[in-house]
Amino acid sequence: MNDTRQQILEILSGSMSDILARSVLSLSISWSKVDPNNLRHGDDKRLLVELEKGIRLYVRDDALQRTCMEQMQSLLTINGHTRPSPVAEPQIRVPVLTESDIVDARGIGRLVCNKLGFSGAMQIKVATAISELARNIVQYAGKGEIIITTLDGNRRGIEVVARDEGPGIADIDLVMSDRYNSRTGMGIGLKGTRNLMDEFDLKSNPDNGTEIRVRKYMD
Ligand SMILES: Nc1ncnc2c1ncn2[C@@H]1O[C@H](COP(=O)(O)OP(=O)(O)OP(=O)(O)O)[C@@H](O)[C@H]1O
Ligand SMILES: [Mg+2]
Repeated sequence: MNDTRQQILEILSGSMSDILARSVLSLSISWSKVDPNNLRHGDDKRLLVELEKGIRLYVRDDALQRTCMEQMQSLLTINGHTRPSPVAEPQIRVPVLTESDIVDARGIGRLVCNKLGFSGAMQIKVATAISELARNIVQYAGKGEIIITTLDGNRRGIEVVARDEGPGIADIDLVMSDRYNSRTGMGIGLKGTRNLMDEFDLKSNPDNGTEIRVRKYMD
């Protein structure tokens, strides 16, 4: 089986974490609208351009970056040329258990914003919101996930869902108010997140845990 997606993943994984590699691949596919398993002449270029953006962002070492790009180039230019099939919008799920998952979720959010054309300041806002939500998962629920979706309808933007099956938030009104005194932190993570984003929706109860859905739009 000549699975080009798998081969691209292997190249990327050589120089970044698995979850970043998977994210760079799925975003590159979505943004180039090219399915690597169904390449047509000319498509390889568009896919390559997107992959290279991700490589430049995540591979710091110059030599490693060059090697990674060269491997990608030779892989994509020897493959067959058939019609590309339409590709669905990407949804990236990041399991969140540790500090490094928080960093990954944050980085993936920034990459999505970057590809959407968000300004640097907006990228940082979204990345900060993701860190706060992910940190709460690790701190209060132990584990959960962050789901990042590109919104490409009439309003372009990004949606982030933070979900866990932890103990839930007993008094939502209280933690969202200025009266709240946190024993574990500054008590401003959720309020800050609400201010940074355009939409903020919090559902929580002790049976199902917590689900926070936020969105930021391009305009
Ligand atoms: N995923 C979650 N599960 C259970 N409880 C949560 C969760 N997220 C937040 N909480 C509760 O809501 C409170 C407010 O969260 P928020 O992030 O605003 O502040 P903090 O985490 O206490 O401090 P900061 O984020 O400023 O360091 C927390 O103190 C915690 O009790
Ligand atoms: Mg917090």
